Amino acid sequence: MPLSIVILAAGQGKRMRSDLPKVLQPLAGRPLLQHVVDCARTLGADAIQVVYGHGGERVREVFAAQQLGWALQAEQHGTGHAVMQAMPAIPDDHLVLVLYGDVPLIQAATLQGLIARAGERSLALLSVMLDDPTGYGRVLRDNAGNVYRIVEQKDANRKELAVRESNTGLMAAPAAAIKRWLASLRNDNAQGEYYLTDIVTLAVRDGFKVEAVVAPTVAEVLGVNDRLQLAELEAEYRRLQARALLEAGVTLADPARIDVRGQVRCGRDVSIDANVVLEGDVALGDRVVVGVGCVLRNVSIGADTVLHPYSVLDGAVVGERCSVGPFARLRPGARLSVAAHVGNFVEIKNATLGAGSKANHLTYLGDATIGDQVNVGAGTITCNYDGVNKWPTVIEDGAFIGSGTMLVAPVTVGRGATIGAGSTITKPAARDALTLERSRQQAIDGWRRPVKASAEERDRHVAQARLPDEPAKD
Ligand code: UD1
Ligand code: CA
Repeated sequence: MPLSIVILAAGQGKRMRSDLPKVLQPLAGRPLLQHVVDCARTLGADAIQVVYGHGGERVREVFAAQQLGWALQAEQHGTGHAVMQAMPAIPDDHLVLVLYGDVPLIQAATLQGLIARAGERSLALLSVMLDDPTGYGRVLRDNAGNVYRIVEQKDANRKELAVRESNTGLMAAPAAAIKRWLASLRNDNAQGEYYLTDIVTLAVRDGFKVEAVVAPTVAEVLGVNDRLQLAELEAEYRRLQARALLEAGVTLADPARIDVRGQVRCGRDVSIDANVVLEGDVALGDRVVVGVGCVLRNVSIGADTVLHPYSVLDGAVVGERCSVGPFARLRPGARLSVAAHVGNFVEIKNATLGAGSKANHLTYLGDATIGDQVNVGAGTITCNYDGVNKWPTVIEDGAFIGSGTMLVAPVTVGRGATIGAGSTITKPAARDALTLERSRQQAIDGWRRPVKASAEERDRHVAQARLPDEPAKD
């Protein structure tokens, strides 16, 4: 059967105590709802309908660029009422899978199992065995083990409350039957709500097969209602990601102190120290070493490269056998060729550093093309911005840039050129020559060290340093 997925996301999330709608709260850097949508996408559904609620316009805005259907549930009268809002958009011959926008760690394999057990004449629901099922609906089975009802906590008697098998809320059933069942739901229960769970009884009455699939792990069906639960799921997510890296052969100094918020591909014998954050698409080559506290976002790092502690790389491509940091910052468009060295307090943006080239200390290289075997001295700055435009700097192979050099772009330093320390370079520097821009050093005869000024001397001296007043404008 073709598949439609309904994601319930109309809940307010009061207990988050936040101005942000609950399903927009971030887990591993992505909104809760995004995790559910991403998982849903892998199931090959024809359509995904999100049921959103009062104040949910922000949710729609955040997801505006994504292929999703939206159904407004203006007032919240329960989960059955919520699903009802999405049904008009769903064809009768579809299978409907109901997910929750605040249950972010749900696994595709679990949902595939659920879908496989639902069909023309069968309803499948996902249950979970909980040590403490307080607050959950209980899955009631007859003596033969067949599910016949779900009873909510608030409607349950003492015997029913003792049942540990709990309803996750996620279920799958054919659209035509769901429409029929929902139309006959009543709200004469403890909460005065239209319960989606009541369709279980209706399905049994219609002679449907009702199956409860037990979720393989508790974490994947946990919902987020408050900050504590959000933090717990963040930790769970961290554990899952760390385990995947360990299984892939990566050494982690401490699996509890790495945050993976994207996709990571690692070669063999990669080693990652504590408190590292990986975001977006990260590719680490064989034997790459990532030092303490590094933050990597959308980067590719070549084999045998070492990232020393506290380096921040975003949108950078680093070649093999490079050395980066400690405390280096590579911004988008930074490209390091093989065996390049970037040291402490060096910032590189939209610039290429050629093979074996070095910028080891306190430097800014922006909008620059730097050849092979170039040495960039400490404190060198490409002055790439004139306040309006960005201009390029070119440094050819084998050049030596003395410390404290200002390269006022656009400017070119020729192959094999040497720039004397402290120069401000505004014109092309010739190949294989020494270029210097520096005033002559002088010794001042008869100079004495200052002595303490009297109050009057001080006032006079300060007054002399003032600019004359500007003429008044009328
Ligand atoms: C529901 C189930 C319960 C199950 C529990 C699991 C029903 C009647 N009960 O409980 O058996 O154990 O989930 O967490 O279905 N929502 C809407 N609109 C509404 C009401 C809810 O969109 O009018 C959404 C919420 O945003 C949330 C989900 O539905 O994502 C579940 O709602 P929630 O109130 O957390 O669950 P319960 O109804 O208490
Ligand atoms: Ca100078």
